[in-house]
Amino acid sequence: WIAPASALLIGYLLGSIPFGVILTRVAGAGDLRQIGSGNIGATNVLRTGRKGLAAATLLLDMLKGLAAVLIVERLFPGEGVLAAAGAFIGHCYPVWLRFRGGKGVATLMGIVVGLHWPIGVVYAVVWLSLLAGLRISAVAGMAAAISAPVAAALWGRFDLVMLLLALGLLVIWKHGDNIERLLAGTEPRIGRRD
Ligand code: G3P
Repeated sequence: WIAPASALLIGYLLGSIPFGVILTRVAGAGDLRQIGSGNIGATNVLRTGRKGLAAATLLLDMLKGLAAVLIVERLFPGEGVLAAAGAFIGHCYPVWLRFRGGKGVATLMGIVVGLHWPIGVVYAVVWLSLLAGLRISAVAGMAAAISAPVAAALWGRFDLVMLLLALGLLVIWKHGDNIERLLAGTEPRIGRRD
């Protein structure tokens, strides 16, 4: 049991680092949880007007998911899936923020690249093309998350389908507020003030 427990713990600890909150605070841009949607992800960092900080948050939130899978696979071969689950849960429910974490889109991007990179390519294409076309981060993120189990099935990685389906559904669950705003027509678009 030591290998699976360690994989979960390492994944959780890495995933739970709230880069958005840390970078925003260190840069003197305020408490991210009091800004915009209150979410700790890169989209909300962008609402501080600091594009560089948002890009750094996006990159680091992706890298922690990727690092969790790669480090654990090296230490405990075959336990990458548990590291992935741990990292995702860590980002969405970090003990340091009283379990009020992010929505998992960037961290899941890093995770899928680590688990099977072609799924990461599909994820990135769905995410970026919808983001460019619609400029609604939540829609792009939810669609990308749901594309991951589909891509896993298409690539014959049936061992990953259940995990990615569960994580994709959790991404949607975490976007409850966004879904309400989308239905009400009040979800803001990236790069606009409306
Ligand atoms: O990844 C989070 C994004 O999909 C939505 O963020 O701040 O608009 O709720 P936000």
